[in-house]
Amino acid sequence: MYINGLKLLNFRNYENLNIEFEKGFNIIYGDNAQGKTNILEAIFLCASGRSHRTSKDADLVRINESGYYIKLSLDRSVMSSSIEILYDRTRKKRIKVNEIPIRRMTELMGHLNAVIFSPEDLMIIKEGPSERRRFIDITISQLKPSYLYDLQQYNKILMQRNSLLKEIHNNEALTETLDIWSEKLAEVGSRIMKVRHEFIKILSKKAQEKHLKLSDGKEKLTLKYCPSVKAPSMDSTGEIEKCFLEVLKESRKKEMKTCTTMAGPQRDDYVIFLDGLELKQFGSQGQQRTAVLSIKLAEVEMMMEMTGEYPVLLLDDVMSELDARRRNYLFENLGEIQTFITCTDMSLFEDKIASGSKVFKVVRGSVYEELRNFG
Ligand SMILES: Nc1ncnc2c1ncn2[C@@H]1O[C@H](COP(=O)(O)OP(=O)(O)OP(=O)(O)O)[C@@H](O)[C@H]1O
Ligand SMILES: [Mg+2]
Repeated sequence: MYINGLKLLNFRNYENLNIEFEKGFNIIYGDNAQGKTNILEAIFLCASGRSHRTSKDADLVRINESGYYIKLSLDRSVMSSSIEILYDRTRKKRIKVNEIPIRRMTELMGHLNAVIFSPEDLMIIKEGPSERRRFIDITISQLKPSYLYDLQQYNKILMQRNSLLKEIHNNEALTETLDIWSEKLAEVGSRIMKVRHEFIKILSKKAQEKHLKLSDGKEKLTLKYCPSVKAPSMDSTGEIEKCFLEVLKESRKKEMKTCTTMAGPQRDDYVIFLDGLELKQFGSQGQQRTAVLSIKLAEVEMMMEMTGEYPVLLLDDVMSELDARRRNYLFENLGEIQTFITCTDMSLFEDKIASGSKVFKVVRGSVYEELRNFG
């Protein structure tokens, strides 16, 4: 799939921007704080419904304005389509796909698939479990809208169950109703955990292949799912559900005391290993960065296999952090993937651009297309 054009109105530091992209590399360069990442952010928002940098839509509105508008037009193997997002500080975000308003965020998924790789992605390795869950949740949601729906349902059930636990604290008679919520929680939660198990298994295999190539066959990368409920077979929702309910039963006393649910996808994690050692503790900066790149490239391939089309790839300021060999490997393996690259130093790319590429310079919220002679 290819993005043809992007229109931004009052989005971040853009008052009114219209750009047309190419099918190959789109290199967006400029000094710091000019608006390069803002463009990638708008694209990613159209793919996943949320920004990769903030959960607050109000932050995205240009200062002193009341709302923003994004329109993205796409070329897909089957047809062209458009995605529009309209946000007003006083109203909920409205999204249209092919000019038809959608009712749920799940309906946006799958229209534009995008993988973003930015320096903040090192958080997948360095930070806690919630960052890691966020990454796989966003990816799986793009591929499987029913997963996003389950996540939303699960969070509602979890909130209700937690507030019931608080109420029971004052009124023990309510204890009887807890079982109903536990059952609901285990039913939806087990579906989420089964999907995560499958996803991480495939992601690990593919990331391992990519990482072997990036490290000249030297390093073995593995991702291991650590579910909060360990069923004998994570391939069966029935078994996960059964174990889930048992764990809840066993932790009843503790739950009553703490007024929080002690098990479930909200407590899942996965560990990233390099040659058997935990990357978070033992990996060098470069190894961690390469591992994230391997995981992102694995994600691209998974999307291709599951949808039949390559996603668009958004590389935010990451090229300059890779050594020349890794950078070249990356370029050689992008093939027919439409790639958006931001950088401050254009010289790294002068020899990489060819026909089917475009170069844009960003200066304080204005974008200038630069004409190159590709020979
Ligand atoms: N809501 C907003 N309204 C107006 N300007 C904003 C808003 N949010 C961010 N900005 C401005 O956008 C600029 C940052 O944009 P962006 O993050 O895209 O920069 P960048 O070109 O990627 O820089 P760097 O090279 O440092 O990553 C800053 O000047 C910031 O003040
Ligand atoms: Mg930036």
